[in-house]
Amino acid sequence: MSLWGGRFINESNKLFEEFNASLSFDYNLVKEDIFASIAWSKALLEIGVLTNIEQKKIESALISLKKEVNINPKKILKSNCEDIHSWIEKNLIKKIGDIGKKLHTGRSRNDQITTDLKLWCRSNIKILLKNILNLQKQFVLTAEMNIDVIIPGYTHLQRAQPITFAYWCLAYIEMLKRDFSRLEDTLKRLNISPLGSGALSGTGWNIDREKLALSMGFTTSTENALDSVSDRDYVIELLSSASISMMHLSRFSEDLIFFNSSEANFIELSDAITSGSSLMPQKKNPDALELIRGKCGRVYGSLFSILVVLKGLPLSYNKDMQEDKENLFNTIYTWNYSLLISSLVLKNIKLNRQICYDAAEKGYSNATEVADYLVRKGISFREAHNIVGKIVLHAIDIKKSLSHLDLSIFKKYSNYIENDIYDHITLSACIKKHLSKGGVSFNQVKKKIIKEKIRLNIS
Ligand code: ARG
Repeated sequence: MSLWGGRFINESNKLFEEFNASLSFDYNLVKEDIFASIAWSKALLEIGVLTNIEQKKIESALISLKKEVNINPKKILKSNCEDIHSWIEKNLIKKIGDIGKKLHTGRSRNDQITTDLKLWCRSNIKILLKNILNLQKQFVLTAEMNIDVIIPGYTHLQRAQPITFAYWCLAYIEMLKRDFSRLEDTLKRLNISPLGSGALSGTGWNIDREKLALSMGFTTSTENALDSVSDRDYVIELLSSASISMMHLSRFSEDLIFFNSSEANFIELSDAITSGSSLMPQKKNPDALELIRGKCGRVYGSLFSILVVLKGLPLSYNKDMQEDKENLFNTIYTWNYSLLISSLVLKNIKLNRQICYDAAEKGYSNATEVADYLVRKGISFREAHNIVGKIVLHAIDIKKSLSHLDLSIFKKYSNYIENDIYDHITLSACIKKHLSKGGVSFNQVKKKIIKEKIRLNIS
């Protein structure tokens, strides 16, 4: 059924109808469309377009439609309606007859769709915020359990300086905090009602748009109807927030895939989130993490897609904009799923402490501490760097770690080095020294964990 019968003489082409239709994906907006339609019916009541009885009839028919859809959401898909707006209108008319035909007074699908989409984004942002917080909580718990597990920290994927697994967890908490605040920010700008903008120039009826906006939980109503129906900035913002956050999750995945590799062997992933090979019996593959890393691709794709769809699009509404939904829905689904899976992976992780420790030792990750030791004895850092470089070269040559190097060898390169060097370069000594704000020292990490537990309400 189409909504524009009067002006058309001939039937539309079936192939075009299919191409044009959006019901197969915008059925996702059914709750939002019903919610906004009820609010709209109340606004129509206030200006006398609907009587009290008519409004009540419309409202209760819409509520019962919602219940039917709740029981069987796929019911919508059986219809041949073009989109969710026409599906609801058709079913409303089926239930209450001609009164149902009054609901679309003063409204256009152009302001209707962007209202629905904003409402959908709003409720999904709330779920995302919750999942981001939950993942942060899991990071804090994992940090607490591994507070003294030393691992090598890397730059250029070369062992650089010793850190702790807890400290690594805290780094991801910071990234997730930024993801959280980006979403809050997106929500703030998005939560402004476009309803009552009509097709593009406002509605011809004296609707109190501000009151209508507040009744739907928006903070206010939009200022310019032409902009309101053209605007999909919030989709772009949400997809870019998703892209940044998925990038974080993909780096998290990559770190763990590397830690789990046969080469590093720092961690063991649980059977619950890994899979085997159909051919090689020894394999235990980190599929969950590889999928998060891989799914990042489709999220970036969605962002690029909407940017390109909107680029150069003339004001106001154009059907091109229908292309915003599938990718948005898929991205939010993917992002939420990835947050949940990340939590699951983290919860079940086991660390091979000794292997981590040995790797941190073997990598000469305490070399900076030898240089700092020399600086404390009065040598300039640049010179100390050079001396320690030579010591490391020597140690590599005889296949020894710095803490197993004889004092006589140290002395060959600098007479300032005494027996106390060994206390300075144990891995925990190196870690303890990094005690200024943001550093890896055990004390800093402990304090930070306590702070995060309070922030996240973890008892
Ligand atoms: N299905 C359309 C969309 O998703 C709804 C708005 C249609 N408006 C119109 N004038 N054809 O964008």
